[in-house]
Amino acid sequence: MNNINELLTTRRVIVCCGSGGVGKTTVAAALALSAARRGRRAVVITIDPARRLADALGRRGDLSNEPVLVERIGHGEMWAAMLDVTSTFDSLIERFAASAEQADLIRSNVFYKSISGSLSGTRDYMAAEMLLRLHEDPRFDLVVLDTAPSRNALDFIESPERLVRFLRHPLFRILTAPSRGGLKVIGATVQPILKAIGKVVGSNVMSDVIDFLRAFEGMETGFAQRASSVSHLLRGEGTDFAVVVAPSPEPLSDTQVLVDRLADTRISPSFVFANRLTPLFDAAGEPSGTSVQSSSEAQEWLENNVATLRQRAKTERELVQNFIDRMSTIRSGADEPPGLVEVVEIAEQSTDIHDLDGIALLADSLG
Ligand SMILES: Nc1ncnc2c1ncn2[C@@H]1O[C@H](COP(=O)(O)OP(=O)(O)OP(=O)(O)O)[C@@H](O)[C@H]1O
Ligand SMILES: [Mg+2]
Repeated sequence: MNNINELLTTRRVIVCCGSGGVGKTTVAAALALSAARRGRRAVVITIDPARRLADALGRRGDLSNEPVLVERIGHGEMWAAMLDVTSTFDSLIERFAASAEQADLIRSNVFYKSISGSLSGTRDYMAAEMLLRLHEDPRFDLVVLDTAPSRNALDFIESPERLVRFLRHPLFRILTAPSRGGLKVIGATVQPILKAIGKVVGSNVMSDVIDFLRAFEGMETGFAQRASSVSHLLRGEGTDFAVVVAPSPEPLSDTQVLVDRLADTRISPSFVFANRLTPLFDAAGEPSGTSVQSSSEAQEWLENNVATLRQRAKTERELVQNFIDRMSTIRSGADEPPGLVEVVEIAEQSTDIHDLDGIALLADSLG
């Protein structure tokens, strides 16, 4: 049985994903705060290069790879961090290099400098690495990961396997093989390929790449092990995926694609956070006739508004329910029997959320 309390008290990793602008960052922060209220030491990490988490927490310019304590609540703690790709990569190199010289050689390589900060694949893999690192950090017992919009979220999930495939690729092995005496010897087989690549990327770049791969020698085992640990972590017992949706058709169909592809990678999210819903106006909350009878026009106007909002609230929930129904069919197509998908409704707040107080209001609605 999934419920939000169990999610926040027992899981070690929660990955928030969904399409653009639906509230992933906001919900991720609210989940971390809510877990801290339950006495957990939770860290929310955003891998999104847009600085929304810092903005949402009112801490612009303040978030980096090194988590900062945002709030202490009894024994609970909420921390926040933002992925810095280059420094994550640098520390991985330091960790797996056989010597300080090898680490220096890599860090000063031109090709390394150009990929370590900017290549999108590197960003995805470093996000996975950062997740693992925070998970292993004894300061935290829950990591809430805020991802970039849907497609990038999948790139991130698939990045560890992609890295392992790359490291196991025969070309990579040949290029980094220490015993073959370098390019001159292996030239007969690989030279034409290298020449072809060199024509596209330029031969200077190519020799930087080869220098980089040489310097990398022996480190691929460490990298591959890390990649496979992340891959296991993402599919492990202590990890849950939370899909954040907003009630409009386009983001919902985008999210459907995301859920389908997650199923292909053997991941079935157990939670859907239906965010930005029009609140339900139940009969109990209606103004009593006497209080507004003084102006029948005003009363009619109010009643019309309430009727419109009720209709909107209903339509939105139908949209979300259709999405959940489809999601359950996909999940039942997977090897494992499907668990129930828990839907958590979050109402649209009357103002934009740009500080911890706003996040706290959202956390209140999580129960
Ligand atoms: N329940 C809510 N009520 C009111 N405003 C909200 C709510 N949830 C999110 N917002 C607002 O919606 C905007 C988008 O939210 P957020 O940045 O969390 O979305 P996102 O899914 O992370 O976006 P992106 O895909 O760009 O990373 C923000 O301005 C945020 O304050
Ligand atoms: Mg975001």
